[in-house]
Amino acid sequence: MLQRQAAGAQLGLRGARRGAGLPSPCGPMPRRAAPAPNPSARATQLDALRAASTSALHASPCSQPARARRCVAAAAHGSLPEYTLEARPPARLAIFVSGGGSNMKAIHAACLDGRINGEVVAVVSDIPSCGGVSYAREHGIPTLTYPLVKKGEAAGQGLTASQLVDGLRNTYDAEFVLLAGYLKLIPGELCRAFPRAMLNIHPGLLPSFGGKGYYGERVHKAVVASGARFTGPTVHFVDEEFDTGPILAQRVVPVYPTDTPKQVAARVLKEEHAVYPHCVAALCDGRIAWREDGVPILWEAK
Ligand code: GRF
Repeated sequence: MLQRQAAGAQLGLRGARRGAGLPSPCGPMPRRAAPAPNPSARATQLDALRAASTSALHASPCSQPARARRCVAAAAHGSLPEYTLEARPPARLAIFVSGGGSNMKAIHAACLDGRINGEVVAVVSDIPSCGGVSYAREHGIPTLTYPLVKKGEAAGQGLTASQLVDGLRNTYDAEFVLLAGYLKLIPGELCRAFPRAMLNIHPGLLPSFGGKGYYGERVHKAVVASGARFTGPTVHFVDEEFDTGPILAQRVVPVYPTDTPKQVAARVLKEEHAVYPHCVAALCDGRIAWREDGVPILWEAK
């Protein structure tokens, strides 16, 4: 298990806040020793991780904001170093929803019970009346609307893309963006503001059954119609296209020949609630490395 530090302590890479004198994007990472039973072993292992990361860190865009970059370590193929983690304060998460938000709830629950070292600081939705937004309000989580709502009771509400990015980064100080059933296209501006720091969950095994038009029950219908015998959720980083960003994790469930799309959906959703928090925990801990060819690697917590 990870060794975590008492909440609120300002140690570790993510401990540095905006304007706190972060080094240049390609420069050395800031580090302070975290209190731990064996601090020297931890430091050595982390240094090894950083050493292995150097080449790919240099290959990654230097324009990345320091906050997002902090989770980015890298390793050459087949040479994952031994490592342990520095303690760090909870990561600040913004979650985007359009529906009931069961994935958001799973992530929020994992933040509350310590499986994720994170805090949900904002919920964004295109539908202010959706279940996910109600849940956020009930739990005292600030909610934002994006994009502008054109019809109905909420007509006229909503932020522009620049206001959204500004709000998430500067008002809520969000470090990571998690799409959890958000149905609108994500603006390029947001992708660029959160490089390698935005995840999505898709209810199929990408790159199959993905892309424009493949969402919700449509994915499960297509899976059943195809005769595929396996399906499952994919967690991937978000780029400016639909469902094409680098795959971080997948879970596989069977599809039986007698299954309805609803049955498949229920089986997949159960796995979603496990795999998404698992990935978010890794993101918050800095346990994601990047292979030189752009494939992310999730290190399991020890
Ligand atoms: C999930 O199936 C997820 O894979 C997809 O949208 C659905 C959201 O469900 N992106 P919920 O709102 O989290 O219950």
